[in-house]
Amino acid sequence: MQLNLVVLPGDGVGPEVTAQAVRVLREVADIYGHRFHFEEHSVGGVAIKETGSPLPAATLEACRHADAVLLGAIGAPEFDHLSSPHKPEAGLLQLRRELGGFANLRPVSSYAALTGTSPLRSEIVDGANILFVRELLGGLYFGEPRGITSSNGSSSAFNTMRYSVSEIERVARVAFEAAMRRRRRVTSVDKANVLETSQLWRQTVSQIASEYPLIELDHLYVDAAAMHIITKPKRFDVILTENLFGDILSDEAAVIAGSLGMLASGTVGGTIDLYEPVHGSAPDIAGLGIANPLGAIASAAMLLRHTMHLEDEASDIEAAIENVLDAGYRTRDIAGEADRFVSTSEMGQRVTESLAEVADSRHAYHAV
Ligand code: IPM
Ligand code: MG
Repeated sequence: MQLNLVVLPGDGVGPEVTAQAVRVLREVADIYGHRFHFEEHSVGGVAIKETGSPLPAATLEACRHADAVLLGAIGAPEFDHLSSPHKPEAGLLQLRRELGGFANLRPVSSYAALTGTSPLRSEIVDGANILFVRELLGGLYFGEPRGITSSNGSSSAFNTMRYSVSEIERVARVAFEAAMRRRRRVTSVDKANVLETSQLWRQTVSQIASEYPLIELDHLYVDAAAMHIITKPKRFDVILTENLFGDILSDEAAVIAGSLGMLASGTVGGTIDLYEPVHGSAPDIAGLGIANPLGAIASAAMLLRHTMHLEDEASDIEAAIENVLDAGYRTRDIAGEADRFVSTSEMGQRVTESLAEVADSRHAYHAV
């Protein structure tokens, strides 16, 4: 199998974690006899410095011709003073829009080895496994009009939350299809007691549900969902929600996995799929070699599964991650106060080594 991958390391810890994801992908290519080609381009703050634009034309062009895109992180405090369209984040939002992926999949599960790391009690998180399906191209992130105006010396700012029926339908279908392959339960999260967009959301999702009689659908207001996610995470299978609610709730749900550094994501439904860890650029620890690369590595696994349909390779990477955690290796974010922790690159190396073992035992299994 041939794969042409564009890698966008981006800002902060992005380059450190994507380097480890690429390392693991190279090992996959080696072990399973694939040909993976990697092409690196700049995006976000580094791209602003290099070219003046957070999404240079050459980067976008390369992404358009790739089989998939793997991104690290975007954002740096030195650009905080810039207005929205000039910030590093604008490059990411434009990239998302150009590639067209409207459904952002964010799986969150508790790792057996890490239940003690979660601030939640282990009997609450143990066995939790949620898939967030976050709408990624609508809502407040993209709604027009938006802006800041001032008159008579006083400023006001405004954003628009807007959703059309077709935007809701297409992401709802992704959630229902995913639930059919899981535990067949969808929880749609909205604020229908206050917002018109949420009323349309709820009505449209309920209509799509009638195409899926095997799925059990329920609706939760976002404030209640925020509480249930950490008090009863095991009650959820697929959580379907709009862009901003999904952004907030998925960070919250990271406490189930033990750290934001563990979470992966994949954006599908457009012309080119985009994979990125959920954590941001973490400028406070950038360059120190201590960031957790497992979210980026797990994003690479999602890429192999969803875009390349390489299920064995994807699940072997996930098994390797679990093995390394079971063996006690921790980056700082998932280490206990007194625990020793390994560097970003040692973590990547451990996963790579474990992957070789996992693949070996799969081979031995097939041989008998
Ligand atoms: C995420 C991030 C982005 C978002 C930022 C960096 C624009 O927080 O992917 O969750 O808000 O979508
Ligand atoms: Mg976020």
